[in-house]
Amino acid sequence: MKRIAVFTSGGDAPGMNACVRAVVRGALYHGAEIYGIMHGYNGMIQGEISKMSSYSVSNIVQKGGTILKSARSQEFMTKEGRQKAFEQLKKHEIEGIVAIGGDGTFTGAEIFYNEFGLPTVGAPGTIDNDLYGTDYTIGFDTAVNTALAAIDKIRDTADSHDRVFFIEVMGRDSGYIGIQCGIGGGAEMVMIPETHTTIDTIIQTLSDARKKSKTSSIIVVAEGDEEGNANIISEKVKKALPHLDIRVSTLGHIQRGGSPSAYDRILASRLGLAAIEGLLKGEKNVMAGIINDKLVYTSFKDTIQKAKEKAINNDLLRMINILSL
Ligand code: F6P
Repeated sequence: MKRIAVFTSGGDAPGMNACVRAVVRGALYHGAEIYGIMHGYNGMIQGEISKMSSYSVSNIVQKGGTILKSARSQEFMTKEGRQKAFEQLKKHEIEGIVAIGGDGTFTGAEIFYNEFGLPTVGAPGTIDNDLYGTDYTIGFDTAVNTALAAIDKIRDTADSHDRVFFIEVMGRDSGYIGIQCGIGGGAEMVMIPETHTTIDTIIQTLSDARKKSKTSSIIVVAEGDEEGNANIISEKVKKALPHLDIRVSTLGHIQRGGSPSAYDRILASRLGLAAIEGLLKGEKNVMAGIINDKLVYTSFKDTIQKAKEKAINNDLLRMINILSL
């Protein structure tokens, strides 16, 4: 395989650039030509494909976002869109692809392979950490640290004003960021999509906390919680506990930006190199991951379908209850 393309897709994640750098330099090291596709699958369809050199990825290991840009492509979900993408890749004589992204990216890559037979190896790039086949995804560690820095600051206000804060963190379908922020930020409770915490439980917990003379509380809410977002939940709680001074803070996209942590830079470098080397050795339709510090390749299908098996660790949830006594 002599001509390989790399792209980033889905929500950007800190460390994607370090991953692109490892893919590009890994390909060049092994004597392959490497092409960058801009704007994810949209750019593939539009033919935004150009040759990269070692210098194309200079001075990016520390940068957030992605120099290749990213997108969530509606057009690639159609057969016509994928056909156009294939024709563009054929025009550039691309023989294999490295895809850096999350579940949507890998679902697209698998369909594309089944239709056109172009092999893809993935590297997990998403702050959500919701992929089976790797302990951590690229960007998760930075996102948690960013959210924690914000929570620490909000705690100062919560404490000074004797307030209850509902802090919403990202994770559409997944509570990994929520749990880590809950533990690291000393939250009273964490609301995540994988478990059901009722409004009554929150009311009880906050009432008990006041009885124990706690003057302020932090409740971390993952955006995908089934009781609703932090605003909806807080309104319900306010009705039951009108004497409490309740505020909401939604951290939002601040969690996706910024310079990647040391952990994410190293993880991204390892996984980028593993993805390109796997592709060159004949791997296809798999994602490179690291489990217990060992490099593994997991089929795209399993990374998505078994994501629920990488279930939220109940010991961690139990710990939040104990430590918020
Ligand atoms: O998948 C990463 C993520 O940040 C989720 O946590 C969040 O729900 C979603 O992307 C937001 O996507 P967008 O930036 O497209 O609104």
